[in-house]
Amino acid sequence: MSQELYDLARAVGLEAAEFVRSSRPEGRVDVAATKSSDTDVVTEIDRACERLIRERIFSARPDDGFAGEEGDDIVGTSGVDWVVDPIDGTVNFVHGIPAYAVSIAARRDGTVVAGHVVNIASGEEHGAVRGEGAWRHDGDERRAVVAPQGAAPARGLVATGFHYIPEIRAKQAAAMASFLPQVADVRRIGSAALDLCALAEGHYDAYFEQGLHLWDHAAGALVATESGLVVSGLDGGPDERMVMSAHPAVAEEYFGLVRSCGF
Ligand code: IPD
Repeated sequence: MSQELYDLARAVGLEAAEFVRSSRPEGRVDVAATKSSDTDVVTEIDRACERLIRERIFSARPDDGFAGEEGDDIVGTSGVDWVVDPIDGTVNFVHGIPAYAVSIAARRDGTVVAGHVVNIASGEEHGAVRGEGAWRHDGDERRAVVAPQGAAPARGLVATGFHYIPEIRAKQAAAMASFLPQVADVRRIGSAALDLCALAEGHYDAYFEQGLHLWDHAAGALVATESGLVVSGLDGGPDERMVMSAHPAVAEEYFGLVRSCGF
């Protein structure tokens, strides 16, 4: 059943990505509204994309629940619900930076069992089914993604992101001042879903971000987990708002460092 959910996530994700690609005007995209702060933006294309995803999922599975970034949650009766970010990386989308993704995850009884992430600009696709591994699609082929052991912090390239709320950003900036000298470097690409897939591919050595929502990371975190990485909240248990991830061989070093810097 998880594979069927995955197949639906992928079919809908690819259609949604094509919709966004073909709807994007040249240059910058107009911002329709701001959300939690002036820098947390949404466009009409985010909203239309979420409506499309919602319609496709409900026409296939009318009894499921749905939680998307841009709309009201729907409580279902089937035990399956969908966690959707129609454009993860909206700021990149607005500015034309080619790192924004459709992220669709399916949960069964509250556990994420299938996830699909497609980079809308490049078409690169990652997916995972709980217990069955993570992969990258290359056309009709799919290649297993097994995360390599990352470097220790002193040589580590770490992906992160910053909160939209100014007061929390100020605290993050202070923590970053102590974190940055202890790692090789830091990247802020602007899409948590793509960061987690890139970590699974071995492009980074670790990832952490505070202030996320479940739709930002539900699918990407399953890709990371199924590729062999540890995914954890700040206190060791799961945390919807704070996600840290690294290879098990180096995870505690990174997670300890993040904690000690005061994030
Ligand atoms: C955002 C991206 C970004 C992260 C923000 C998220 P959105 O998602 O994942 O990398 O730093 O916290 O909100 O708003 O573009 O869907």
